[in-house]
Amino acid sequence: MPGTCVIGLQWGDEAKGKLVDILTGDHDVVVRYAGGANAGHTVVSGGQTWKLSLIPSGILRDGVTCVVTGGVVLDPASAIREIEGLESRGVRVDGKLLVSDRAHVVFPWHIEEDRILNAALSGGEAIGTTGRGIGPCYRDKVGRSLAIRLGDLYRDTFPAKLREIVRVKNQSLASWGVETPLDAAAIEADYARFATRLRPLVADTTAFLLDAAEAGQRLLFEGAQGALLDVDHGTYPFVTSSNSSGVGVAAGSGVPGRWVDRVIGVLKAYSTRVGGGPLPTEQDNATGQYLRDRGNEYGTVTRRPRRCGWFDAVAARYTARLSGVDELAVMLLDVLGGLDEIKVCTAYEIDGRRTTQFPSHVDDLRKAVPVYETLPGWQGEIADVRDHAALPREARAYLARLAELVGRPVTVASVGPDRDQTMFLPAAGARPWPRAQSKTPAKA
Ligand code: IMP
Repeated sequence: MPGTCVIGLQWGDEAKGKLVDILTGDHDVVVRYAGGANAGHTVVSGGQTWKLSLIPSGILRDGVTCVVTGGVVLDPASAIREIEGLESRGVRVDGKLLVSDRAHVVFPWHIEEDRILNAALSGGEAIGTTGRGIGPCYRDKVGRSLAIRLGDLYRDTFPAKLREIVRVKNQSLASWGVETPLDAAAIEADYARFATRLRPLVADTTAFLLDAAEAGQRLLFEGAQGALLDVDHGTYPFVTSSNSSGVGVAAGSGVPGRWVDRVIGVLKAYSTRVGGGPLPTEQDNATGQYLRDRGNEYGTVTRRPRRCGWFDAVAARYTARLSGVDELAVMLLDVLGGLDEIKVCTAYEIDGRRTTQFPSHVDDLRKAVPVYETLPGWQGEIADVRDHAALPREARAYLARLAELVGRPVTVASVGPDRDQTMFLPAAGARPWPRAQSKTPAKA
């Protein structure tokens, strides 16, 4: 029984959480396979708002197993805070959540290194990370010698390994001007406590997922961040440190791509970016502020104001192809209401040459001057519209044009944060969406 994958096609924050929540009704297992506590998902359900970071939003429903795989970097303190936050609102976590023993663990030095390297050593424009230690933890994972995986916390060798790593880290932190060394004993005590709390959740999730796939269970892979932040295929170096596009699913989860036969690409009806790096369609003006205000474009994790701009079809077409997307979900369409006209970037001019190919080097992307097409806007609010046919003609035309430019059908349009503020569009050959919820939403 092949699975489904939900991938953000821009720079993250595309409101994937809501779609995952809707799709969970049709799946048995929800899988988070990349990133860490840098991600933030907001799910609004039944008038209640849930903010999730590491734990898949499937946790809000009964009858679903949530899995955090080895492709994720895990900050145990933050994961435990999230678990306790859910439990305090009546959401059961134990027995519903599995965390991979292969997941690499974020330690205090990663957070410190993130702060130092992002601010001082990146040269020129800072990456503007979320400060959650993500890049340094992935770097140590690939480097191997200074890495600790969750499974290591349960081995007798952990204290000695930790002490050795702290010794090395204190040397490098001192060379970067950090005066107070890390205290290995205190860290050991903290992480021993975290390990005890997490123990019932720790599993070989690769084996679990392969068994589940072979047993015919329906898997839902929840992307974190967006494809343009992919470490290999995004706007490097202004990216996160994992494969956040569709290409990351197999590596991050251990489940081969042949088990995924439906890929849903999630797009905002405009563009946003948080942190550094080029955003070709950025509107650092009243239009950008209009989008920021109406879209509440402030980071879920860091509350940083997001940079806002027009929809970039060059970028979206690239990431839809890269991620093997079958269909598109266009989110926050309501935010565009009230504009006289709406622009869409259909090509770039780079060094006087027009192209629809997304540049592979960030310096070329910086030079890209968007070529815009102007579409008529619509007046009035559409947050209460539930049927595509009832949308203003201009909004329907806008969706149709995005589909044409990106080269995939739009099957979902979202007009607000609530689960109900979602409409499903007819598209030739498109698969059905779960309308009636087959799983009970967890009680708060
Ligand atoms: P890091 O993932 O904290 O290393 O940050 C690297 C870049 O990715 C920065 O520009 C962050 O703002 C961005 N980023 C990381 N996670 C998210 C997210 O969930 N949404 C949007 N941007 C993100």
